[in-house]
Amino acid sequence: MYCRVMDFRDESSGDHKAIRHLLLASFPGPGEADLVERLRGDGDAVTSLVAIEGRVLTGHVMFSKMAAPFRALGLGPVSVLPDWRRRGIAATLIQQGIKRATKDGWAGVFVLGDPDYYQRFGFKCEHAESFESPYSGPYLMALPLNDDRLPIRFGRLDYAPAFSALG
Ligand SMILES: CC(C)(COP(=O)(O)OP(=O)(O)OC[C@H]1O[C@@H](n2cnc3c(N)ncnc32)[C@H](O)[C@@H]1OP(=O)(O)O)[C@@H](O)C(=O)NCCC(=O)NCCS
Repeated sequence: MYCRVMDFRDESSGDHKAIRHLLLASFPGPGEADLVERLRGDGDAVTSLVAIEGRVLTGHVMFSKMAAPFRALGLGPVSVLPDWRRRGIAATLIQQGIKRATKDGWAGVFVLGDPDYYQRFGFKCEHAESFESPYSGPYLMALPLNDDRLPIRFGRLDYAPAFSALG
């Protein structure tokens, strides 16, 4: 299932232009491209991974700090160039980010997205449903790290401020 030939690594400053290009090619408007730049600028980007095939930056994922009752990251955005989809690039980026977050002692990762896609990584709506969040609902999911449940299951949950600019 997972892509094995591509290079997956942390972004460098030399990747910023290609990441913007990827995000503009992947989403209907510039919101996500602007979001990633603001997360970086605000110091809220924790992990930003890219997939590289030859000289082409084919995929990207960002994990950012959240305000939560424990050390939590928000996953997103994630994107893959249209011609490179359905080869497991996004899955590999997400898996690597989760592995890094686990190693670095984060307690959980939240994501807002399609349950059909994210449940394959272990994200569940039931882990997130008791939190107070503007995004509460069937698309908000969480993945506990280092344990089978989050250390605290109630409280206020906020994405980094840059997300508030996203429509
Ligand atoms: C979503 C996205 C990152 C997946 O990238 P990818 O490298 O093709 O993903 P993978 O190869 O790891 O997985 C492909 C699987 O994801 C599914 N998938 C793709 N987009 C999906 C979506 N928006 N919702 C649910 N499932 C989706 C495919 O049907 C495929 O399923 P399958 O394995 O059962 O066939 C890519 O389609 C993309 O960049 N989309 C535009 C940006 C976007 O919507 N990002 C997600 C929200 S931040």
